[in-house]
Amino acid sequence: MHLLYTLVATTLPLAAVASPQLMSRQTATKITVDPTKHFQTMDGFGFSEAFQRANLIVNLPDEKRKALVDLLFNRTSGAGFSILRNGLGSSPDSSSDHMNTILPKSPGSATATPNYVWDGKDSGQFWLSQQAAAYGVKYFYSNAWSAPGFMKSNGNDANGGSLSDAWKPAFAAYLIQYMKYYTDAGVPISHVGFLNEPDFTASYASMLSDGAQAASFIKVLRPALDAANMSNIGIVCCESTGWSKAQGMVSGIKSAGADSMLAVVSSHEYTSRASGSLSSTHHTWQSEYADLNGAWTTAWYSSGGAGEGMTWANNIYSAITGANVSGYIGWVATQGGSTNEKMIQTDANGYTVSKRLWAFAQYSRTVRPNAIRLGTTGGSFKTTAFKNEDGSIAVNIINTGSSAASVSIAVTGFTVTAATAWLTDTKNDMTAQTVTVADGGVEGSIPARAMVSFVLTGT
Ligand SMILES: *[C@@H]1O[C@H](CO)[C@@H](O)[C@H](O)[C@H]1NC(C)=O
Ligand SMILES: *[C@@H]1O[C@H](CO)[C@@H](O)[C@H](O)[C@H]1NC(C)=O
Ligand SMILES: *[C@@H]1O[C@H](CO)[C@@H](O)[C@H](O)[C@H]1NC(C)=O
Repeated sequence: MHLLYTLVATTLPLAAVASPQLMSRQTATKITVDPTKHFQTMDGFGFSEAFQRANLIVNLPDEKRKALVDLLFNRTSGAGFSILRNGLGSSPDSSSDHMNTILPKSPGSATATPNYVWDGKDSGQFWLSQQAAAYGVKYFYSNAWSAPGFMKSNGNDANGGSLSDAWKPAFAAYLIQYMKYYTDAGVPISHVGFLNEPDFTASYASMLSDGAQAASFIKVLRPALDAANMSNIGIVCCESTGWSKAQGMVSGIKSAGADSMLAVVSSHEYTSRASGSLSSTHHTWQSEYADLNGAWTTAWYSSGGAGEGMTWANNIYSAITGANVSGYIGWVATQGGSTNEKMIQTDANGYTVSKRLWAFAQYSRTVRPNAIRLGTTGGSFKTTAFKNEDGSIAVNIINTGSSAASVSIAVTGFTVTAATAWLTDTKNDMTAQTVTVADGGVEGSIPARAMVSFVLTGT
């Protein structure tokens, strides 16, 4: 708005711009945040480095490794991710990209004493988690893709199969022991999950389950966690391949009477997208999604392709506003190769960052854990607003249109005293913007096909 004012005022006679204030009002789109209208409470945004992807960071040259970790977790210069989803290994070895188990040998029977083995690495995830904790990350999600093979109907941690009844207490003890290695080292595990895509038989670590089977294990795991002084660790279920499958799991768990023992209901978006609420009183997480096969692109916007940055900003927006999610977790942060599966492409010497990372950053840096989503009206942008725990209000605006726009943001009953804004588009990665605080609100501009997140402070 300042630019327009200056330009007009210096090129036209004074009489023509008698009321520049009024002029800016007329050209700006007004967006109003209603702090009395509350939606879901947020946990945050995250990614996984399962299947040894964390090692890609661990093995980088020192300086690059430091810069990459900063890119992921720093809240002023990086994405400020707030959830780390770790793969809890079940494989007897570390060949290929396997996640090794802490119990490589069967104790012989479900009641025999297990001989746990902790390698202090956990496929690179332990080191990465320690880095994240140092940046203040509080949501660490330990998620098993499967139980070790000897606890299952098919005797293999891969190829589906299901958890044997007799081994349920042993599997619960196993998950607890794994999390102890982390909590004892100062990495506070907040969430645990014991399934990944339980409706899909994969050639890698996988374990099948319906809602009733999941409920019967939840009834063993919840009291075991409480008895182990882990009552603060919430159970996440069930990482279904898609939203409609997740709906079935949620109903099945409810019917079997284990719903009250859950903390989070989760789903991926592969077989059906995040759409509609999962009919749960618990927080919902979209806990894994990626453009698995698209050719690597670092574009923010080109043709609206599945791997483009603005598409990802839209994905996150849709899940928050249309599927009631409190958490949105991508698939992996890093990987080599030439697909969009990851946000950052790594090789032995360094890395290349895609705009998908910056789409996440727009939300993750400004919408912090425990933020409450608020109502908004005005404009045809994709707008969300949140009240953060520190009292600041985040307003995230995606302009998918082909023209730039001016916006004037007001929060009912709240006088803005200071504001900052960050822009991501083709040329910018969370670039700080100049905004104007005026009349208790804030004015700024949103370029065409861009996302700007404002953070307002005031009284
Ligand atoms: C985050 O980045 C800023 C700016 O580069 C830097 O000053 C700060 O030390 C970083 N924070 C952490 C925890 O490393
Ligand atoms: C239980 O866990 C809390 C942290 O959650 C810790 O402070 C306390 O020492 C633990 N108590 C025992 C008996 O392990
Ligand atoms: C959204 O999720 C919350 C729990 O986070 C729940 O209480 C609320 O009922 C859900 N809203 C809808 C519309 O389902």
